[in-house]
Amino acid sequence: MKKILIIGANGFVGRRILDQLSEQGTYELFACSLHPDIQPTENHTFIRLDIQDYPAVETLLEHIAPDVVINCAALSAPDYCEQHPEEAVAINVEAVANLAECCEHLGSRLIHLSTDFVFDGKENRLYTEEDTPAPVNYYGQTKHQGEQEIEEICSDYAIARVVVIYGKALPGQHGNIVQLVKNRLEAGEEIRVVSDQYRTPTWVADVAVGVERLILTEKSGVYHIAGGEQLSIAEMAYRVADYFHLDRSLIHPVSTEEMNEATPRPRYSGLSIEKAGIELDYTPHTFEEGLEEMK
Ligand SMILES: NC(=O)c1ccc[n+]([C@@H]2O[C@H](COP(=O)([O-])OP(=O)(O)OC[C@H]3O[C@@H](n4cnc5c(N)ncnc54)[C@H](OP(=O)(O)O)[C@@H]3O)[C@@H](O)[C@H]2O)c1
Repeated sequence: MKKILIIGANGFVGRRILDQLSEQGTYELFACSLHPDIQPTENHTFIRLDIQDYPAVETLLEHIAPDVVINCAALSAPDYCEQHPEEAVAINVEAVANLAECCEHLGSRLIHLSTDFVFDGKENRLYTEEDTPAPVNYYGQTKHQGEQEIEEICSDYAIARVVVIYGKALPGQHGNIVQLVKNRLEAGEEIRVVSDQYRTPTWVADVAVGVERLILTEKSGVYHIAGGEQLSIAEMAYRVADYFHLDRSLIHPVSTEEMNEATPRPRYSGLSIEKAGIELDYTPHTFEEGLEEMK
Protein backbone atom coordinates (compact mmCIF):
# COMPACT_ATOMS: atom_id res chain seq x y z
CA MET A 1 0.00 0.00 0.00
CA LYS A 2 1.51 3.34 -1.07
CA LYS A 3 1.95 5.87 1.73
CA ILE A 4 0.71 9.28 0.61
CA LEU A 5 1.16 12.56 2.47
CA ILE A 6 -1.07 15.47 1.40
CA ILE A 7 0.09 18.90 2.54
CA GLY A 8 -2.48 21.71 2.55
CA ALA A 9 -5.21 19.11 3.10
CA ASN A 10 -7.69 21.63 4.51
CA GLY A 11 -7.64 23.56 1.24
CA PHE A 12 -10.15 23.34 -1.59
CA VAL A 13 -7.96 21.14 -3.79
CA GLY A 14 -6.07 19.28 -1.07
CA ARG A 15 -9.26 18.02 0.59
CA ARG A 16 -10.75 16.81 -2.70
CA ILE A 17 -7.56 14.89 -3.48
CA LEU A 18 -7.65 13.39 0.02
CA ASP A 19 -11.29 12.35 -0.47
CA GLN A 20 -10.60 10.91 -3.94
CA LEU A 21 -7.69 8.79 -2.68
CA SER A 22 -9.63 7.81 0.41
CA GLU A 23 -12.47 6.44 -1.74
CA GLN A 24 -10.05 4.06 -3.49
CA GLY A 25 -9.14 2.36 -0.19
CA THR A 26 -5.75 1.44 -1.62
CA TYR A 27 -3.55 4.08 0.00
CA GLU A 28 -2.27 4.76 3.50
CA LEU A 29 -3.16 8.43 3.85
CA PHE A 30 -1.57 11.18 5.92
CA ALA A 31 -2.85 14.75 5.76
CA CYS A 32 -1.28 17.99 7.00
CA SER A 33 -2.46 21.56 7.22
CA LEU A 34 -1.79 24.72 9.16
CA HIS A 35 -5.10 24.61 11.04
CA PRO A 36 -6.98 21.68 12.67
CA ASP A 37 -8.60 19.04 10.42
CA ILE A 38 -11.72 20.53 8.81
CA GLN A 39 -13.29 17.09 8.31
CA PRO A 40 -11.70 14.25 10.29
CA THR A 41 -12.32 10.67 9.08
CA GLU A 42 -11.02 7.26 10.05
CA ASN A 43 -9.38 6.92 6.65
CA HIS A 44 -6.57 9.39 7.20
CA THR A 45 -4.16 10.48 9.89
CA PHE A 46 -4.06 14.24 10.34
CA ILE A 47 -1.06 16.18 11.61
CA ARG A 48 -0.96 19.95 12.05
CA LEU A 49 2.08 21.36 10.28
CA ASP A 50 3.45 24.75 9.30
CA ILE A 51 5.54 24.19 6.17
CA GLN A 52 7.67 27.14 7.22
CA ASP A 53 8.83 25.13 10.26
CA TYR A 54 11.65 23.26 8.50
CA PRO A 55 12.70 20.99 11.40
CA ALA A 56 9.06 19.94 11.87
CA VAL A 57 8.71 19.18 8.14
CA GLU A 58 11.90 17.12 8.17
CA THR A 59 10.93 15.17 11.30
CA LEU A 60 7.45 14.44 9.98
CA LEU A 61 8.66 13.26 6.58
CA GLU A 62 11.33 11.06 8.16
CA HIS A 63 8.73 9.59 10.52
CA ILE A 64 6.16 8.81 7.80
CA ALA A 65 8.63 8.04 4.98
CA PRO A 66 5.91 8.62 2.34
CA ASP A 67 6.15 7.16 -1.15
CA VAL A 68 4.48 10.30 -2.47
CA VAL A 69 4.08 13.83 -1.08
CA ILE A 70 1.36 16.00 -2.66
CA ASN A 71 1.85 19.68 -1.93
CA CYS A 72 -1.35 21.72 -2.14
CA ALA A 73 -0.28 24.25 0.50
CA ALA A 74 0.23 27.72 -0.91
CA LEU A 75 -0.63 31.34 -0.65
CA SER A 76 -3.04 31.13 -3.54
CA ALA A 77 -4.78 34.53 -3.59
CA PRO A 78 -3.05 36.82 -6.13
CA ASP A 79 -4.11 40.06 -4.40
CA TYR A 80 -2.84 38.81 -1.03
CA CYS A 81 0.51 37.80 -2.56
CA GLU A 82 0.87 41.22 -4.21
CA GLN A 83 0.40 42.88 -0.82
CA HIS A 84 2.47 40.37 1.20
CA PRO A 85 5.45 39.58 -1.04
CA GLU A 86 7.75 38.25 1.71
CA GLU A 87 5.11 35.83 2.99
CA ALA A 88 4.42 34.69 -0.59
CA VAL A 89 8.11 33.91 -1.18
CA ALA A 90 8.39 32.13 2.17
CA ILE A 91 5.47 29.78 1.43
CA ASN A 92 5.37 29.47 -2.37
CA VAL A 93 9.15 29.31 -2.91
CA GLU A 94 11.33 28.74 0.16
CA ALA A 95 9.11 26.22 1.94
CA VAL A 96 8.65 24.40 -1.38
CA ALA A 97 12.43 24.19 -1.84
CA ASN A 98 12.78 22.77 1.67
CA LEU A 99 10.05 20.23 0.97
CA ALA A 100 11.77 19.29 -2.28
CA GLU A 101 15.08 18.74 -0.42
CA CYS A 102 13.34 16.51 2.14
CA CYS A 103 11.61 14.47 -0.59
CA GLU A 104 14.83 14.04 -2.54
CA HIS A 105 16.68 12.95 0.60
CA LEU A 106 14.02 10.33 1.44
CA GLY A 107 13.38 9.17 -2.13
CA SER A 108 9.74 10.35 -2.05
CA ARG A 109 7.98 11.45 -5.23
CA LEU A 110 6.84 15.08 -4.99
CA ILE A 111 3.64 16.16 -6.73
CA HIS A 112 3.26 19.93 -6.54
CA LEU A 113 0.27 22.07 -7.53
CA SER A 114 0.99 25.11 -9.66
CA THR A 115 -0.94 27.51 -11.86
CA ASP A 116 -1.70 28.95 -15.30
CA PHE A 117 -0.66 32.30 -13.77
CA VAL A 118 2.98 31.39 -14.54
CA PHE A 119 2.15 32.60 -18.10
CA ASP A 120 1.76 36.20 -19.26
CA GLY A 121 -1.40 35.44 -21.27
CA LYS A 122 -0.24 37.39 -24.30
CA GLU A 123 -0.70 34.41 -26.67
CA ASN A 124 -4.20 33.94 -28.06
CA ARG A 125 -4.00 30.16 -27.75
CA LEU A 126 -3.75 27.41 -25.16
CA TYR A 127 -0.37 27.19 -23.42
CA THR A 128 1.55 23.90 -23.49
CA GLU A 129 4.13 22.57 -21.04
CA GLU A 130 6.78 23.63 -23.58
CA ASP A 131 5.88 27.34 -23.38
CA THR A 132 8.12 29.66 -21.39
CA PRO A 133 6.60 31.10 -18.22
CA ALA A 134 6.58 34.90 -17.85
CA PRO A 135 4.32 35.75 -14.89
CA VAL A 136 2.63 39.15 -14.73
CA ASN A 137 1.94 39.24 -10.99
CA TYR A 138 3.71 38.33 -7.78
CA TYR A 139 1.64 35.20 -7.14
CA GLY A 140 2.57 33.84 -10.57
CA GLN A 141 6.19 34.81 -10.05
CA THR A 142 6.45 32.95 -6.74
CA LYS A 143 4.65 29.89 -8.14
CA HIS A 144 7.07 29.82 -11.07
CA GLN A 145 10.05 30.10 -8.72
CA GLY A 146 8.61 27.21 -6.68
CA GLU A 147 8.43 25.11 -9.86
CA GLN A 148 12.06 25.95 -10.68
CA GLU A 149 13.23 24.87 -7.20
CA ILE A 150 11.54 21.48 -7.62
CA GLU A 151 12.95 20.96 -11.12
CA GLU A 152 16.45 21.68 -9.81
CA ILE A 153 16.26 19.63 -6.62
CA CYS A 154 14.02 16.63 -7.33
CA SER A 155 14.71 13.58 -9.46
CA ASP A 156 11.18 12.18 -9.01
CA TYR A 157 8.48 14.83 -9.29
CA ALA A 158 5.40 16.09 -11.12
CA ILE A 159 4.22 19.68 -11.29
CA ALA A 160 0.47 19.86 -11.93
CA ARG A 161 -0.58 23.26 -13.29
CA VAL A 162 -4.29 23.84 -12.72
CA VAL A 163 -6.66 26.67 -13.69
CA VAL A 164 -9.68 28.41 -12.07
CA ILE A 165 -10.88 25.44 -10.07
CA TYR A 166 -14.57 25.21 -9.32
CA GLY A 167 -16.82 22.82 -7.44
CA LYS A 168 -18.51 22.34 -4.13
CA ALA A 169 -16.40 23.75 -1.31
CA LEU A 170 -16.63 22.79 2.36
CA PRO A 171 -17.53 25.40 4.99
CA GLY A 172 -14.37 27.35 5.82
CA GLN A 173 -12.80 26.87 2.39
CA HIS A 174 -12.50 29.83 0.03
CA GLY A 175 -15.17 30.22 -2.64
CA ASN A 176 -14.72 29.87 -6.38
CA ILE A 177 -16.09 31.64 -9.43
CA VAL A 178 -19.07 29.31 -9.84
CA GLN A 179 -20.09 29.53 -6.20
CA LEU A 180 -19.66 33.28 -6.16
CA VAL A 181 -21.79 33.82 -9.26
CA LYS A 182 -24.44 31.34 -8.12
CA ASN A 183 -24.69 32.85 -4.62
CA ARG A 184 -24.90 36.42 -5.91
CA LEU A 185 -27.51 35.66 -8.56
CA GLU A 186 -29.58 33.58 -6.12
CA ALA A 187 -29.54 36.60 -3.78
CA GLY A 188 -30.71 38.80 -6.68
CA GLU A 189 -27.47 40.79 -6.61
CA GLU A 190 -25.79 42.34 -9.65
CA ILE A 191 -22.30 41.12 -10.51
CA ARG A 192 -19.48 42.60 -12.61
CA VAL A 193 -17.31 40.04 -14.39
CA VAL A 194 -14.36 40.39 -16.73
CA SER A 195 -15.21 39.59 -20.35
CA ASP A 196 -11.71 39.65 -21.89
CA GLN A 197 -9.81 37.23 -19.65
CA TYR A 198 -9.89 33.61 -20.78
CA ARG A 199 -9.23 30.42 -18.77
CA THR A 200 -9.84 26.68 -18.99
CA PRO A 201 -11.96 26.22 -15.83
CA THR A 202 -11.34 22.94 -14.08
CA TRP A 203 -13.71 20.89 -11.96
CA VAL A 204 -12.02 20.10 -8.65
CA ALA A 205 -12.88 16.39 -9.03
CA ASP A 206 -10.93 16.29 -12.33
CA VAL A 207 -7.89 17.76 -10.60
CA ALA A 208 -8.11 14.97 -8.01
CA VAL A 209 -8.26 12.31 -10.74
CA GLY A 210 -5.37 13.94 -12.65
CA VAL A 211 -3.24 14.04 -9.51
CA GLU A 212 -3.99 10.37 -8.79
CA ARG A 213 -2.76 9.52 -12.31
CA LEU A 214 0.44 11.42 -11.45
CA ILE A 215 0.88 9.17 -8.40
CA LEU A 216 0.63 6.13 -10.63
CA THR A 217 3.04 7.23 -13.37
CA GLU A 218 6.79 7.15 -12.88
CA LYS A 219 7.44 10.07 -15.22
CA SER A 220 8.76 13.41 -13.99
CA GLY A 221 7.86 16.79 -15.43
CA VAL A 222 5.20 19.44 -15.79
CA TYR A 223 1.61 18.45 -16.57
CA HIS A 224 -1.33 20.71 -17.38
CA ILE A 225 -4.39 19.35 -15.55
CA ALA A 226 -7.27 21.60 -16.64
CA GLY A 227 -10.73 21.69 -18.16
CA GLY A 228 -11.23 21.03 -21.85
CA GLU A 229 -12.85 24.33 -22.84
CA GLN A 230 -11.49 27.88 -22.94
CA LEU A 231 -14.04 30.42 -21.66
CA SER A 232 -13.96 34.06 -20.63
CA ILE A 233 -14.87 34.74 -17.01
CA ALA A 234 -18.08 36.39 -18.27
CA GLU A 235 -18.93 33.30 -20.36
CA MET A 236 -18.48 31.16 -17.25
CA ALA A 237 -20.89 33.42 -15.34
CA TYR A 238 -23.53 33.22 -18.12
CA ARG A 239 -23.20 29.43 -18.29
CA VAL A 240 -23.71 29.24 -14.50
CA ALA A 241 -26.79 31.50 -14.73
CA ASP A 242 -28.28 29.41 -17.55
CA TYR A 243 -27.53 26.08 -15.92
CA PHE A 244 -29.15 27.04 -12.61
CA HIS A 245 -31.98 29.03 -14.30
CA LEU A 246 -30.88 32.29 -12.68
CA ASP A 247 -31.33 35.85 -13.96
CA ARG A 248 -28.49 36.46 -16.43
CA SER A 249 -29.42 40.14 -16.73
CA LEU A 250 -27.77 40.66 -13.32
CA ILE A 251 -24.40 39.86 -14.94
CA HIS A 252 -22.48 42.89 -16.20
CA PRO A 253 -19.50 42.04 -18.41
CA VAL A 254 -16.67 44.57 -18.18
CA SER A 255 -13.22 44.80 -19.75
CA THR A 256 -10.00 44.34 -17.77
CA GLU A 257 -9.42 48.05 -18.22
CA GLU A 258 -12.84 48.92 -16.77
CA MET A 259 -12.38 46.49 -13.88
CA ASN A 260 -9.15 48.31 -13.03
CA GLU A 261 -7.86 45.68 -10.59
CA ALA A 262 -4.71 46.47 -8.62
CA THR A 263 -3.19 43.05 -9.40
CA PRO A 264 -2.49 42.40 -13.09
CA ARG A 265 -3.78 39.12 -14.48
CA PRO A 266 -3.03 37.26 -17.75
CA ARG A 267 -5.54 37.74 -20.60
CA TYR A 268 -5.39 34.23 -22.17
CA SER A 269 -4.11 31.61 -19.78
CA GLY A 270 -6.00 28.53 -20.86
CA LEU A 271 -3.86 25.40 -20.70
CA SER A 272 -3.57 22.67 -23.31
CA ILE A 273 -4.24 19.24 -21.79
CA GLU A 274 -2.94 17.27 -24.75
CA LYS A 275 0.08 15.89 -22.86
CA ALA A 276 -2.06 14.78 -19.89
CA GLY A 277 -4.50 13.18 -22.34
CA ILE A 278 -1.79 11.17 -24.06
CA GLU A 279 0.42 10.28 -21.09
CA LEU A 280 -2.14 10.02 -18.28
CA ASP A 281 -5.32 9.22 -20.20
CA TYR A 282 -6.75 12.34 -18.54
CA THR A 283 -10.15 13.40 -19.90
CA PRO A 284 -11.94 16.13 -17.94
CA HIS A 285 -15.69 16.53 -17.60
CA THR A 286 -17.51 19.35 -19.39
CA PHE A 287 -18.19 22.60 -17.52
CA GLU A 288 -21.86 21.68 -17.09
CA GLU A 289 -21.02 18.17 -15.84
CA GLY A 290 -18.91 19.83 -13.16
CA LEU A 291 -21.76 22.19 -12.25
CA GLU A 292 -24.03 19.22 -11.60
CA GLU A 293 -22.57 18.61 -8.11
CA MET A 294 -23.49 22.17 -7.08
CA LYS A 295 -27.20 21.73 -7.63
N1 LIG B 1 -8.15 27.26 -6.59
C1 LIG B 1 -7.77 27.62 -7.80
O1 LIG B 1 -8.59 28.10 -8.62
C2 LIG B 1 -6.34 27.43 -8.22
C3 LIG B 1 -6.00 27.85 -9.53
C4 LIG B 1 -4.68 27.69 -9.94
C5 LIG B 1 -3.75 27.10 -9.09
N2 LIG B 1 -4.11 26.70 -7.84
C6 LIG B 1 -3.08 26.08 -7.00
O2 LIG B 1 -3.59 24.89 -6.42
C7 LIG B 1 -3.07 24.71 -5.11
C8 LIG B 1 -4.20 24.52 -4.13
O3 LIG B 1 -5.06 25.66 -4.20
P1 LIG B 1 -6.36 25.80 -3.28
O4 LIG B 1 -7.34 26.60 -4.03
O5 LIG B 1 -6.74 24.46 -2.74
O6 LIG B 1 -5.76 26.69 -2.11
P2 LIG B 1 -6.36 26.91 -0.66
O7 LIG B 1 -7.78 26.47 -0.59
O8 LIG B 1 -5.99 28.31 -0.32
O9 LIG B 1 -5.53 25.90 0.22
C9 LIG B 1 -4.21 26.10 0.54
C10 LIG B 1 -3.97 25.41 1.86
O10 LIG B 1 -2.62 25.68 2.21
C11 LIG B 1 -2.54 25.59 3.59
N3 LIG B 1 -1.43 26.39 4.07
C12 LIG B 1 -1.23 27.71 3.88
N4 LIG B 1 -0.10 28.08 4.51
C13 LIG B 1 0.39 26.97 5.10
C14 LIG B 1 1.52 26.72 5.91
N5 LIG B 1 2.37 27.68 6.25
N6 LIG B 1 1.73 25.45 6.34
C15 LIG B 1 0.87 24.46 6.03
N7 LIG B 1 -0.23 24.64 5.26
C16 LIG B 1 -0.46 25.89 4.82
C17 LIG B 1 -3.84 26.15 4.15
O11 LIG B 1 -4.12 25.37 5.29
P3 LIG B 1 -5.20 25.75 6.43
O12 LIG B 1 -6.52 25.81 5.73
O13 LIG B 1 -5.10 24.63 7.39
O14 LIG B 1 -4.78 27.09 6.96
C18 LIG B 1 -4.82 25.94 3.00
O15 LIG B 1 -5.81 25.01 3.32
C19 LIG B 1 -2.18 25.92 -4.85
O16 LIG B 1 -0.86 25.58 -5.14
C20 LIG B 1 -2.66 26.96 -5.83
O17 LIG B 1 -1.62 27.84 -6.18
C21 LIG B 1 -5.39 26.86 -7.40
